[in-house]
Amino acid sequence: MRIGVLGTGTMAEGLAGQWARAGHTVFIGGRTPGNARALAERIGHGAGAGSLREAAGFGDATLLAVAYEGVPVTLEAAGAEEGTLSGRALIDCTNALVPGRFVLATDGGPGVAERIAAQAVGAHVVKGFNLCADSVWRMTPPVFADGPLAVPLCGDDEGALEAVRTLVRDMGCVPLDGGPLERARHLESTAAFLLGFWFAGAEPRAALPPAAAQRPHRVAD
Ligand SMILES: NC(=O)c1ccc[n+]([C@@H]2O[C@H](COP(=O)([O-])OP(=O)(O)OC[C@H]3O[C@@H](n4cnc5c(N)ncnc54)[C@H](OP(=O)(O)O)[C@@H]3O)[C@@H](O)[C@H]2O)c1
Repeated sequence: MRIGVLGTGTMAEGLAGQWARAGHTVFIGGRTPGNARALAERIGHGAGAGSLREAAGFGDATLLAVAYEGVPVTLEAAGAEEGTLSGRALIDCTNALVPGRFVLATDGGPGVAERIAAQAVGAHVVKGFNLCADSVWRMTPPVFADGPLAVPLCGDDEGALEAVRTLVRDMGCVPLDGGPLERARHLESTAAFLLGFWFAGAEPRAALPPAAAQRPHRVAD
C-alpha cells in the first residue's frame, strides 16, 4: 500500500516505521522540510519526503499525526479543502487534550475526527491508534502477555476501514470494530480518561474485565 504521512513527530515515526518495515511504501510530508527528510531517512526502506501537499496526494491511505492545534492548518496546507485527500483513507490519531489536564479541548462540540471529516473534502476518515503512546507503536510487535494489542477503529467507509485493518494486522496487532465515525468522539474521550491513569502510574487494565464476564442487561439503542 502507498501511505502518505502528514506530520514528522513521534507518532509519525512509530507508525510509519512499522508500515515501512512491513513492506508498504511511505512518504513523509511536513511543514518543516528538514524534519520530513530526517524522518524519512530514519525510517529507511525507501521512504520519501516532501511537502504536506505531496504527501496528501501520495497514498491509498494517509496518516494525520500532528498536534491538535496544528490540525486545521496542516489540512489546509495539504490542500484537503480542495480535495487532495478525496477518496483516500485518512487515519486520525489525534488526541485533543487541554494542556496539563486530561480533558478534551473539543468538549461540548464534535470530536476531532468529525472536524477533520468536515474539512477534508471527500476523505474517508478512520479514527484509530490514539489510545497508545508511541513507545507501544515502536514495539515489534506490540504483543503483551495476554496477546496482541487490539486497535479500535471508527469509520464510515468500509473500503477505508479494511485498508486500515490491514495496516493494523501488518504491525502484529488486531483490529477492533469501534463502529461509525460518530463514535470516534468516545474513542477520543477514552484516551483522555485512560491517559490520566497512565500519567499517574496507575494500571487501568484491571478495570476492563474479559468480555465473557461482562453481560450487559441490554444493548443501548
Ligand atoms: N506521542 C504519543 O504518544 C501519542 C499517542 C497517541 C496520539 N498522539 C497524537 O498524535 C499526534 C502527533 O503527536 P506526536 O507525539 O507525534 O507529536 P510531536 O512528536 O510533538 O510532533 C508534532 C507534529 O505536529 C506538527 N505541529 C506541531 N504544532 C503544530 C502547529 N501549530 N501547526 C502545524 N503543525 C504543528 C509538528 O511539525 P514540526 O515538525 O514542523 O514542528 C510535528 O510534525 C497528536 O495529535 C497527538 O495527540 C500522540
